[in-house]
Amino acid sequence: MCGIVGYKGKPVRVKDILDTLKMLEYRGYDSAGLAYSRDGILELRKVEGKIEKLYGLVDDSFTDLVIAHTRWATHGIPNDINAHPHVVGTLAVVHNGIIENYREIKNYLNGYQFKSETDSEVIVHLVNYFYKDNLFDSILASVKFLKGAFAFVLMDTKSGDLVAVKMESPIVIGLIDGGYIVSSDIPSIIKWTRRIITLENGDIFYISSGDFKIFNFIENRFVRRNIEIISWDLGIAEKSGYKHFMLKEINEQGKVIRDTIAGRIEKNEIILDEEVRNYLDSTDIRNIVYIACGTSYHAGLVGVYYSLELAGLNSHAVHASEYRYIDKSRVSLDDTLFVFISQSGETADTLSVARELKGMKAKILAIPNVIGSSMYREFLSFPTRAGVEIGVAATKTFTAQLINLLLLNLYLAKKKNIQIDGLVHEILTIHEFVDSILESYDQILELAQEYSDYQHFMYLGRHLMYPIALEGALKLKEISYIHAEAYPAGEMKHGPIALIDNKMPTFYLYPYNRLVNKNLSNIQEIKARKGKVIALVDKKTKEIAKDIVDRMIEIRYVNEYLQPILAVIPLQLFAYYIADWKGFNVDQPRNLAKSVTVE
Ligand code: M6R
Repeated sequence: MCGIVGYKGKPVRVKDILDTLKMLEYRGYDSAGLAYSRDGILELRKVEGKIEKLYGLVDDSFTDLVIAHTRWATHGIPNDINAHPHVVGTLAVVHNGIIENYREIKNYLNGYQFKSETDSEVIVHLVNYFYKDNLFDSILASVKFLKGAFAFVLMDTKSGDLVAVKMESPIVIGLIDGGYIVSSDIPSIIKWTRRIITLENGDIFYISSGDFKIFNFIENRFVRRNIEIISWDLGIAEKSGYKHFMLKEINEQGKVIRDTIAGRIEKNEIILDEEVRNYLDSTDIRNIVYIACGTSYHAGLVGVYYSLELAGLNSHAVHASEYRYIDKSRVSLDDTLFVFISQSGETADTLSVARELKGMKAKILAIPNVIGSSMYREFLSFPTRAGVEIGVAATKTFTAQLINLLLLNLYLAKKKNIQIDGLVHEILTIHEFVDSILESYDQILELAQEYSDYQHFMYLGRHLMYPIALEGALKLKEISYIHAEAYPAGEMKHGPIALIDNKMPTFYLYPYNRLVNKNLSNIQEIKARKGKVIALVDKKTKEIAKDIVDRMIEIRYVNEYLQPILAVIPLQLFAYYIADWKGFNVDQPRNLAKSVTVE
């Protein structure tokens, strides 16, 4: 992960570069640093903790050469020694990715003194080792040694040169008046320029005395890359009066649903986006495989139920991190659509599988949220329209993913002449019920305060409520640091029931559906073992549950295929309020990053 920035050009305030770095904080925030040239002298500042602390270490000085980094630790704990940049003499480097063969390189550079425990430090030592009088040649010699995923920016205060290298991890170059700004993503540099070059694997972007050249070390030749003019705008990343971005984003879900379906349903018919529709119309599909990580994987699991039951297709969901290492040589690609789901569109595991399958000529549809992300650019995309999501815990993007999956499967059902009555109409109105849950947040706040001291939670649900149980448990773990298990309720008797006692409450997802009585039996089994039960009910199950369970949260009774969209919202709020009550940093929970660009 990690975010990297580099700049060479007319003098700018060092703090302006920190402002740009701050926009990459979603990629990691356990330590930060920068190196800049002050009249040819290398100045270095590094801190454990957030970028905010760096502002206090730089004055109002200007520089024409600077690199900066925000870190998500892979090798070596977060501290100011392991923070980037790593420096040798006049060279300084910031790196995003993992140098997998860093131990071999350290052995090769026997005798060199390494200051940090990081893999990244080998880059600058290697360049220094090869550096005689031409920095470009030493970069070229060095990159041939490196194995793994890496994007790095290196500066040299002796020559005044700046170089950016890309291998798997993302890196973009902004062309500005009298200079260049390098970054891990486009949104962070839009305020500098809209003229962007996206580097490709093997590219070395070399800036020397105002001019640049791009050499691809895989193809072993100089290359030209297109300059793209970015036309899209950033969403507004402001808290708008909310205490946290996460709370704001939870509250935006009604609007997100409206935006996500806009123009994709006409006269009660699903029409999707033209390019996606044309592709699906011309493609034979009998199987759908959903591939994703984390919350997006949970959306994929919901997609499985939609594909099986609405579209009549064989379907399963797999974790990208697992599927990545499956030998696919015998996997049947015929009639199979591989759907990749990713909020960021940059998740390394997800992208890697997508690229591998693309290389095998598989049928691929991507569902990214970030326009301009690698996934969006490289694959046929059916994007969600949730807008910018800043909170590390995914909320509104999950809801948008569910909508897209529902629309996709209803379209595939229509293609097979499967008649599904009423559902499309209900999709058009579901946002109203989302808004009404959000209006009764105070009950969930009260519930969260009452249950905030428990150390363990169980989340259970059946059928479409099972992925939602997983998602509720993930939200609680990642922002409240409370242990939470999630199971399909029918699996409880096969082991997890041993955990149930009065110290482990269960959040039971119990809206009315075909399994109402099976669910009731499971609830009774928990109560018989002195387990406390918080039940998520609707008007139909409320009457059944009211004398059995300890607490109830009510959502509207809706078609069971829409229940995931309503059921997840109280779970998001529950996790949010517990985390806030405990005083945790809700938007930037420990150890996490918004975009997971390493394995
Ligand atoms: O950007 P992606 O959707 O590909 O990210 C996948 C996961 O890293 C992400 O959903 C993660 O689990 C979130 N922190 C969940 O809140």
